[in-house]
Amino acid sequence: MSTPTVEHSAALDAAEAGGIQLITVTFRIRRFNPEEHPDPVWVDYQLTLDPKERVLDALNKIKWEQDGTLTYRRSCAHGICGSDAMRINGRNRLACKTLIKDVNPEKPITIEAIKGLTVLKDLVVDMDPFFQAYKDVMPFLITKGNEPTRERLQSAEDRERFDDTTKCILCAACTSSCPVFWNDGQYFGPAAIVNAHRFIFDSRDEGAEQRLEILNDREGVWRCRTTFNCSEACPRGIEVTKAIQEVKRALVTRRF
Ligand code: SF4
Ligand code: FES
Repeated sequence: MSTPTVEHSAALDAAEAGGIQLITVTFRIRRFNPEEHPDPVWVDYQLTLDPKERVLDALNKIKWEQDGTLTYRRSCAHGICGSDAMRINGRNRLACKTLIKDVNPEKPITIEAIKGLTVLKDLVVDMDPFFQAYKDVMPFLITKGNEPTRERLQSAEDRERFDDTTKCILCAACTSSCPVFWNDGQYFGPAAIVNAHRFIFDSRDEGAEQRLEILNDREGVWRCRTTFNCSEACPRGIEVTKAIQEVKRALVTRRF
């Protein structure tokens, strides 16, 4: 992998444009196109922009104005769809929720694909193993017996029990920041456990035992080493490590 010299570092020539203080920023992006070269390469792009713009805005400008081959996922641009998780300055973030001013634009801002999943092109990874683990924990309500004739009631306290884990947007920032997952792609990973938690602790659900047995697997919840990378990475502020701990406890006590 080659690392070109930085010719022009960030925040050099602040310019006035309609009262907005513009800065020039270098974006150092790890490009990979297996059809052209077997190895990734770091490529620098320079933009003059408002530091209150987001990293996603910068990527769009690079793609639309400088290099249309730059490849990345995005959809909602507002932190909802979870499609633009990437490593920005070595930390997993959503590009659409990251302001340029918050990622040290005086130096080149590095952008690369999330770790632990196969890179297909540039910032796009193969999400299939991630979604397979999600499907494996059966992320849907499981009930027994006949359909009720009215809605399934739940107290506010019971709803609160799993409120945090309902916020997941399946961005994979947690799973791809987990050292256990980097070393063992078979590990279910934090996101799958978070989504199992969401149903295990739902008083209306009757599939907790099944999910717990799935996570009792050697690639399941016991692989977690409590490094807290997942909680730090989560753009939704979910207490991921806490959720994993609660699932571990439920496995031991069978209380949920
Ligand atoms: S728990 Fe947080 S970091 Fe993990 S997939 Fe869900 S939203 Fe993304
Ligand atoms: S583009 Fe949808 S979360 Fe960022």
